[in-house]
Amino acid sequence: MSSTATAANMSPADRMADPNWWRQAAVYQIYPRSFSDSNADGLGDIRGITAKVPYLASLGIDAVWLSPFYPSALADGGYDVDDYRNVDPKLGSLADFDAMVAELHGAGIKLIADIVPNHSSNRHEWFREALAAPEGSSARDRYIFRDGQGPDGSLPPSDWESVFGGSAWQRSVDQDGTPGQWYLHLFAPEQPDLNWDNQEVRDDFLKTLRFWSDRGVDGFRVDVAHALTKDMTHPLPSKDELGSEGELQDGSHPFWDRDEVHEIYAQWRALFNEYTPPRTAVAEAWVHSSRRARYASPEGLGQAFNFDLLLADFDAEQFRAVITRNLAEAADSGASSTWVFSNHDVVRHATRYGLPKGGGREGRGQDGKAWLLNGGSAAELDLVTGTRRARAASLLMLALPGSAYLYQGEELGLPEVADIPDAARQDPTFFRNQGVDKGRDGCRVPLPWTAEGESFGFGDAGAHLPQPREFGAYSVESQEGDPSSTLELYRAALKLRRQLQTSEELTWISSADSVLHFTRPAGWQSVTNFGTEPIPLPAGTMLISSGPLDAGLLPADTTVWLS
Ligand code: GLC
Repeated sequence: MSSTATAANMSPADRMADPNWWRQAAVYQIYPRSFSDSNADGLGDIRGITAKVPYLASLGIDAVWLSPFYPSALADGGYDVDDYRNVDPKLGSLADFDAMVAELHGAGIKLIADIVPNHSSNRHEWFREALAAPEGSSARDRYIFRDGQGPDGSLPPSDWESVFGGSAWQRSVDQDGTPGQWYLHLFAPEQPDLNWDNQEVRDDFLKTLRFWSDRGVDGFRVDVAHALTKDMTHPLPSKDELGSEGELQDGSHPFWDRDEVHEIYAQWRALFNEYTPPRTAVAEAWVHSSRRARYASPEGLGQAFNFDLLLADFDAEQFRAVITRNLAEAADSGASSTWVFSNHDVVRHATRYGLPKGGGREGRGQDGKAWLLNGGSAAELDLVTGTRRARAASLLMLALPGSAYLYQGEELGLPEVADIPDAARQDPTFFRNQGVDKGRDGCRVPLPWTAEGESFGFGDAGAHLPQPREFGAYSVESQEGDPSSTLELYRAALKLRRQLQTSEELTWISSADSVLHFTRPAGWQSVTNFGTEPIPLPAGTMLISSGPLDAGLLPADTTVWLS
């Protein structure tokens, strides 16, 4: 496996210039509307982030991944973009953005911008033009418009379903007020799919990537990277004829993971490589694991999320299999592996690990449909165990070679907020499922910074999603300086990781089935006890532990690092 210089031995300036900075980076995802509100409007904003750069630096992360910050009506939390080359006035201005980048870079922290190429918002000027333009016009060709079925075209062109529920087609209204053609939206109706066969669409995205790269953005997280190219040849197959997302391995699905998508990323890669250091990219691609390498290859985006650990139970055998497979796949693709437990789409892992194994998570729905949130009994949630396991899992993840993607609030051990009143919910998943799927708002509740006070220090005008009372005890203020807190665990682990990550090697040490023990270079060892009984520790000097030891033994649901 390839090796990188020790981040610890590099000055912040050298780290910024290192073309391999991403290979073993700790990347912290900021969901901007829920991070920190500087102007008392209840929404987090860019200046709020800038003000917290010292906090980010104190965590010891290498990069921030910023979820969409573009002008948006927030039909899908900002993943409905009105204008790809601007900042949402609700969040600030381009000048605020530049100031944030300068502050981050000054602290040696890179910035990865979320880019949303599969769909624009329905308020994007292109979509407005498309609606105003006649059938067959070039304005309509930037999207996917089709005639409806039935004598009067009143039935959708196919029975495809949107990821958020309901039909994937919406009928448009012509200029004279009569019902017109239908347009495709794999997500919400406010997110019309762009037509990536259209050259103007391709050229415009290159312009967008250049726009942000020129402004100092160091990399991109590519939203639904596997959906861009589509085979819309008639007759369209029915939904029963389609395989599920992430299942097919031959690129034959009309919209998920088609081979042609890689032509786009080859072009993007050429653009990224014009910069010094080259811009990086990570694909959000829910594809079969055998198909991930292409997204992650050096000729493509360079890295791809693997969500396998996130989908696994807290189980030694499942973790071992996922880690082994993903390290091998990453090595094959030339990328480094990625690890994720939480993000803005899934139930926070402190809660997930407190639910019964399997937890009703299945298919694509595994990301957001935890059983507790969808009718399971709260009595079966054991948050003490969940939190202990989340700490153990996070410490294990931070010992793995590759990039660790952390989600804001996980360093505080935040749980999912399951009891948001329906009237306060925002996620389109909730509305398009008639509330059956509660959606993803529970992991998007604004962060608590202080133990007391208005919105626990998030801002002076309340939080746009209600924070539960117990958030105060999870706040940064409550945890700072307490060595047993989750915040201090993350800080200490991230600092040590930076010193210890000298190469990308990992060697398994044989152990009981319920234990994962591996070594990294220079004698760094990580041991996790997934079993129920305390176990003896291997020889070595203790560096850090995710929880207290039990009379010198490693208790259940605990990870230690030794040297
Ligand atoms: C991705 C995002 C998710 C969004 C969807 C549509 O899966 O992570 O939040 O709703 O794409 O853009």
